[in-house]
Order: sequence, then C-alpha cells, then structure tokens
Amino acid sequence: MENMEVKEAKGKLGVLIVGVGGAVSSTFIAGTLSVRKGIGIPVGSLTQLATIRLGKRYENRFPRIKDAVPLAELKDLIFGGWDIFDENVYEAARHAEVLKKEDIDAVKDELEAIKPMPAAFDRNFVKRLHGTHVKEDASRWELAGQLREDIRRFKAANGCERAVVMWAASTETYIPQSKEHDSLEAFEKALKEDNQEAVSPSMCYAYAAIAEGCPFIMGAPNLCVDVPAMWELADKNKVAISGKDYKTGQTMLKTVLAPMLKTRMLGLEGWFSTNILGNRDGEVLDDPGSFKTKEVSKLSVINTILQTETYPELYGNIYHKVRINYYPPRKDNKEGWDNIDITGWMGYPMQLKVDFLCRDSILAAPLCLDLVLFSDLAQRCGFYGIQSWLSFYFKSPMHAPARVPEHDLFIQHTILKNTLRKIIGEPTLDYLD
Ligand SMILES: NC(=O)c1ccc[n+]([C@@H]2O[C@H](COP(=O)([O-])OP(=O)(O)OC[C@H]3O[C@@H](n4cnc5c(N)ncnc54)[C@H](O)[C@@H]3O)[C@@H](O)[C@H]2O)c1
Repeated sequence: MENMEVKEAKGKLGVLIVGVGGAVSSTFIAGTLSVRKGIGIPVGSLTQLATIRLGKRYENRFPRIKDAVPLAELKDLIFGGWDIFDENVYEAARHAEVLKKEDIDAVKDELEAIKPMPAAFDRNFVKRLHGTHVKEDASRWELAGQLREDIRRFKAANGCERAVVMWAASTETYIPQSKEHDSLEAFEKALKEDNQEAVSPSMCYAYAAIAEGCPFIMGAPNLCVDVPAMWELADKNKVAISGKDYKTGQTMLKTVLAPMLKTRMLGLEGWFSTNILGNRDGEVLDDPGSFKTKEVSKLSVINTILQTETYPELYGNIYHKVRINYYPPRKDNKEGWDNIDITGWMGYPMQLKVDFLCRDSILAAPLCLDLVLFSDLAQRCGFYGIQSWLSFYFKSPMHAPARVPEHDLFIQHTILKNTLRKIIGEPTLDYLD
C-alpha cells in the first residue's frame, strides 16, 4: 500500500484554547507539561500510550501509535488561548482544584507564563458567568477579525509553524439551527450585520480559526462549527474540523453498554441518568438554556445505537431521561448514576445500576491531548471538513447530513485505528486473519 503524502511535523505547534482558564484546559495543560518533563503519566491518552497492530496477527508488530504515526512531539507544543477571566493558567489550575498543589507546582513557571487573551463573550449565551476580561464594544464581525489577529500574533510571537484551536469553554445556551447557518454566504451576511442571536461567540472563534487555516475542535455541545456554513468554510479553506462535546463519563459508558444490549438482542425499557457536579461547568449547566444544549447531546446516542425503528419489539418504547444537578461540595468529582431497565427472554425484566464516581477534567484532559495531535495530523495529511474518524472522542459526533453518526465506542476505535493505518500506508484490518 502506498504511503499517503503527510507533511512533516516540523517546528512548533500552537495550541490555542478557548476557555484556557477552565478546569479541563488547566488540567490538560498542567498534565501535558508534567508528562513532557518526565514526571507525569499520560493515562487515558491513545497517542501517548496505545499500541497499534500492523499486519497479520502472526507478524507480531504492535508499535506504539506515537512511534508509528508522524505526530507532533510534546516538546513542540506551545499553549495559549482566551478566557473571560485574566488569571494565568497556574492560578486557574489552583482555583479549579482538580490537581493537587504539588502536581501544579511542579510546572509552575510554565503555567504562570500562559496568560489568556481577552475573550469574545456575550452574557446572553452563558447566563451564569460575568466575564471581566473581554473584547469590548465589538460587533460580531469585529470580534471574528480580532480573534484572527490574535491567532496570527500568537503564532508570530511564539514562532509557531502551525496552530490548532480547541473550544474547552463553557457550554453556550441552546440555539436552533436557522437560515443564517445554512450557507457561508448567509452566515457571513449575519456576521457583518452583527446578528447577535444567530451568531454566537463560539461561532466567531470557529470562523476565525478556520479562516486562519487552523483545525478547530469543538469540546462542548453548542452548535458552533456543526452547521452547513462552517462545513462550507472548512471545505473552502481545506481545514479539519471536529466535534462535538467530549465523550468522557456517563455517555462513554452508554456507548459501551448500549451496543452490548443490542449485540445480544436484549431489550431496553428505560434509561435514567442523573449526575451531581459542583464545578463551574456544573454551575453553568444549572442554567436551563445551557443544560438544554447538553441534554440534546446526551440524549442522541441511545436511539442511534439501538436502531429503535429496526427493532420495535426490543426498543420501541424507551424512556430516556438525563439530569445534571449542581451540587458544589463535589467540585470536579462528578458522580453519575444510571438505572437501566432491560428485558430478557420472553420479556422478563432485569436491571443494571451503574454508579461512576469520576473526575470530569481528569477524564477530559487526555482526550484534549489526543484531539490536538490528531487534528494537526489530519491537517498535515490534507484531510479537511468534518473528521468523522475522530468520533471516538465525542458525544455527538459531527457527520454529513446524509450519514448516520457512529456512536459505538469500539467501532469508533476501529475506525480511528484503521484511519491511522491508512495514513502510514499499512493495510486496514478486518480481523479475519
Ligand atoms: N468531562 C468533562 O469535563 C467534559 C466533557 C464534555 C464536555 N465538557 C465541556 O468542556 C467545557 C469546559 O469544561 P470545564 O469543566 O473546564 O468548565 P469551566 O467552567 O471550568 O471552564 C470553562 C472556561 O471557559 C471560560 N469561558 C466561558 N465563555 C468563554 C468565552 N466565550 N471565551 C473564552 N472563555 C470563555 C470560563 O471563564 C471558564 O474559565 C464545558 O463546556 C463542558 O461542558 C467537559
């Protein structure tokens, strides 16, 4: 098999994060800096730890992904970004209270040097936050222009050859897709007319990143880059985009358990999921508008996986409910309960109970690292538009309108690895050997 033309990962890679002062971002950055100093273990990261089988089973070739695939090296990453608060990432990591002081202090100097640029923010989109470090009095079009300048300035000041932009900021309020999102022409008109309802701040970031040729990753469930106008812009500028909403805890479990039920042709009557969470994300999601965005994202997986219309006798009448409750004492240590009512032979009822005492940002950080490195790889391979091979990382994987999204974690994993095999000119696996 021919090797694909992959540009070398030469020089520095800028990692620009929207919401760089948040819990996920500061945990991701502090962890990555520790790993590159040789004091942390990148648990949860495929790019750093996983192997990939190449060739037939008997050939015994299982190199690490990072040794077989031309990824950027951690030493070449330069972090920056935007936030509505002006504290540096050391202060942000301390406030987030995810990592222990000693773990944050181990990379203190580097974290202190990362200072957020003023954000593009509109309180109507995140009702629970009052940002002070924001770009003032700018129309949506001006915001997009200022963000483009920020990207260019950051790259020049840090000598970056390339940059990736990732959204790890608060979930914006729910907005439906409207005619302004249907084409690039309509979107640019809305942007220039300063249509503040149809154009969210997150769309200004996505527009700026794609216009600057930077891959864009959408870690929250907002519409943002998942509209035809943005797909068109990404195709036009040949930029890789991916999203939405990191798949970390409860939904990750859902996309493992639901395929199990379907594979064994077991029935499902109801799935009740509830969470308690006490970090800033939990506070933002306590607002009904932001929760609605999250709810849409969390609800979508089960019906698609179970193909409810194909199997009415098993999945014709599922009651699916998702709740997130803001409960400050738990901070970032979310607890997610699932009660799953299933049926077996002759329709006899059974129950599954899952209680996942997880840590939100600890689960999200390795996904951020993988997504940054894989998005940069995609861009160097000349891949552009929606990167469905990265669905593995998202709750609501973006997909072309005519295609059904793939939610099953293990199928997503196979797609990801087969894409990597193609990139390095190795045969894809069908597991029959
Ligand atoms: N497991 C997970 O942690 C997980 C999983 C899926 C999705 N997410 C999403 O990731 C995002 C980050 O989560 P978190 O726990 O770090 O939240 P957080 O509240 O700690 O961090 C969000 C940061 O974004 C900043 N911000 C808000 N609006 C902004 C804007 N317009 N521009 C720049 N900065 C802005 C906030 O000031 C804050 O520092 C949330 O949207 C969350 O829903 C997290």
